[in-house]
Amino acid sequence: MDTLHIKGGKPLSGVIPISGAKNAALPLMTAALLTEGDVLLDNVPRLTDVRTLIRLLTELGCEAEFSEGSADSFGQGLRLNAANITSTTAPYELVSQMRASFWVLGPLLTRFGEARVSLPGGCAIGARPVDIYIKGLEAMGASIEIVDGYVHATARNGLKGTHFRSSLVSVGATHTLMMAATLAEGETVLENAAREPEVGDLAACLTAMGARIEGAGTDTIRITGVKKLGGANHRVLADRIEAGTFAIAAAMTGGPITLTGLVPETIDATLSVLRAAGARVDVSGDRVTVERTAGPIRAVDVVTEVYPGFPTDLQAQFMSLMTLADGESEIVERIFENRFMHVQELARFGANISLHGDMALVHGVKRLTAAPVMASDLRASAALIIAALAAEGETIVNRVYHLDRGFERIEEKLRACGAEIWREKA
Ligand code: UD1
Repeated sequence: MDTLHIKGGKPLSGVIPISGAKNAALPLMTAALLTEGDVLLDNVPRLTDVRTLIRLLTELGCEAEFSEGSADSFGQGLRLNAANITSTTAPYELVSQMRASFWVLGPLLTRFGEARVSLPGGCAIGARPVDIYIKGLEAMGASIEIVDGYVHATARNGLKGTHFRSSLVSVGATHTLMMAATLAEGETVLENAAREPEVGDLAACLTAMGARIEGAGTDTIRITGVKKLGGANHRVLADRIEAGTFAIAAAMTGGPITLTGLVPETIDATLSVLRAAGARVDVSGDRVTVERTAGPIRAVDVVTEVYPGFPTDLQAQFMSLMTLADGESEIVERIFENRFMHVQELARFGANISLHGDMALVHGVKRLTAAPVMASDLRASAALIIAALAAEGETIVNRVYHLDRGFERIEEKLRACGAEIWREKA
């Protein structure tokens, strides 16, 4: 297994282009199952999760072909064509590797009247049930059985529009139900829908495919079903989690680091918290510069929330920053019940963190020292890198395959800013 090596303590400064968002690319790719036409995506990030989903889509009979991305895009082009689907079964071997694979359920069911999709896997960050997906699809008239670890959904006469209020806000259930509703008969209203920018990005692509959707980006989405969808061209939204991660790294190491090609308002909550922690933040067009010139890192309390609140996907990275703060920070995790696995790894750098249910209390220390550490999940891996960049000595991060699922060329991007970071192949 590859390891990442980081010699900390180097000041970082430079420019980092932000990649297309993994969390936008994945649902956009599943949307290709809704049509016989070509879905042409641009700015698709080079990530293991993208390749895992392509393996699943091709297993179902979808064509997938990469090309050069457009000149102004950091990512690649991807043509998907699902005209000749040969299977509506998404097998355990593929779905268990990544939870978003489960999202093929909505498009397959609504277009073909049937789908068998294995219950998902993904990062080990809590129970992550699928009850809302099931309740929503049942409300649209699907019959659903769980047999041998598979969700078997049928709707022989097609799905019907409905009024569905979700008991909690789920990004994946919103993607799934919105896609299912595009080809259902009549109007569907999704209440308590996720407002994450990736939902808006998916809605924009579906609309370009001929879907009728209003309200994406608010908590009430109205979809009027159409008979058929066509192909579309769509550029994947910039990755707000990647941007937030580098912004936190800049606050940790001093900066200035300029992030380019992002949508700054999608990281508003993160930028406010970084300002409160003592960073200077300048926003100009699609660029954000983060710098911490003088003074200590200030302790700030955060609570993870659904968008537009502070994202759970930046909780671990922010905790790394707080390990060096002057004072005590309370970090409350409200989205996932078991997302503190990075705490024991951060302790290996000398961080002082205690856990109290869904709250981590971080007592800032004066310095971190390098250690061998283990990445426990995707975002936690980025947290370890941020700590390592500030730690004295050489850190070795094991299990970096977690990182490759969701951060495109992270070593290259950090090296360009002066970090001493390299990968050793096993
Ligand atoms: C997506 C993101 C992930 C992010 C998360 C929350 C992708 C590929 N993944 O994951 O990076 O951390 O949103 O912003 O976009 N829940 C239920 N029942 C359900 C569905 C969800 O109880 O049927 C719970 C989950 O266990 C969790 C919470 O709802 O506690 C939010 O999960 P959800 O928004 O569904 O996360 P994902 O879509 O899986």
